[in-house]
Amino acid sequence: MSVFDSAFLCGLIKEKRPHKIVEVGISAGATTAIILKCIQLLALEDECEVFSVDISKPYYKNNGKRSGYLADELLNEEGGHFKHTFLLGKRLPEVIDRIGSDVDFVILDTVHTMPGEILDFLTIFPYLKLGATVVLHDIALNHYNQPTLYAYCNQVLLRSVVADKYFMYDESTSLKYPNIGAFDINENTAQSISDVFHSMTINWAHRLDPKDFKLYCKHFERHYGKDTATLFTTIYQMQDHTYQMIFESVLEKSSTHKPLNPVTNVDTTTDIEQLRQQLKTKGEEIKFICAKLIKGGAEEAIPDDFLDQLLY
Ligand SMILES: C[S@@+](CC[C@H](N)C(=O)[O-])C[C@H]1O[C@@H](n2cnc3c(N)ncnc32)[C@H](O)[C@@H]1O
Repeated sequence: MSVFDSAFLCGLIKEKRPHKIVEVGISAGATTAIILKCIQLLALEDECEVFSVDISKPYYKNNGKRSGYLADELLNEEGGHFKHTFLLGKRLPEVIDRIGSDVDFVILDTVHTMPGEILDFLTIFPYLKLGATVVLHDIALNHYNQPTLYAYCNQVLLRSVVADKYFMYDESTSLKYPNIGAFDINENTAQSISDVFHSMTINWAHRLDPKDFKLYCKHFERHYGKDTATLFTTIYQMQDHTYQMIFESVLEKSSTHKPLNPVTNVDTTTDIEQLRQQLKTKGEEIKFICAKLIKGGAEEAIPDDFLDQLLY
């Protein structure tokens, strides 16, 4: 997080003085450390619990380290009495009952591509207090640095939820549009929550594994009812249909020489071969750049979803 982003986050913690914070997406733990330091400065250690959730036990950029390792120094320091728990190697629906209800502060910072953080917001929503604050990182990542064009999930969430929203220009960047946003849950959030489910019709960048689909679907049925589970299933099937239409059928049909659209006069074989070459070249370029950055000790500079670009 930039200085502006950290100040935005800490300003909200200072303003809200939360009792139960849930952070989803830890990476090395830089933000975990910032949250804990902020709690310490506000002398909230005794009254504020913090849960840090990450799908990956090892730090996803360096398997030799654990997710969140940067917060260890603060957690282990003499006199630190944080009520902090790492929940690693699991998705949010698998640990949310352990965290429990009355959550009043959430930070969502995971993949940024659809359906990413929207799934986890909908997972945690039934556990949030009225007035709870939800902070979303990377709301404009699709325009920053080496643009990750499909990293707009948190912006979609921020704009589709009915809530009290925060917006502040970031004068420290040339683009000015902030890369962090937040909202407070209000009396109208619940009655419009289906809009957030519907926002997941925007094309997904990833296929959700059927096992993970079941996990989320079961959780949604339990908390939102059968109709919502049906809506989620319909959206999932629609995304799967579109994914197959775009990627799989294109690549599979290349070997059968069948034209994609019989009415167009397209040489499918040549086009598919070009597409294969483009995907291959792009993948190799990305791998080469990553290797160069790692070798130069700039591993941290690799954007979190850089490898996702291989899809496109
Ligand atoms: C952008 S990084 C988090 C950066 C961190 N908040 C910081 O500021 O240093 C993304 C992290 O989200 C994790 N992640 C990806 N999908 C996830 C999911 N569904 N649930 C929990 N963590 C996830 C990845 O393993 C990775 O550690």
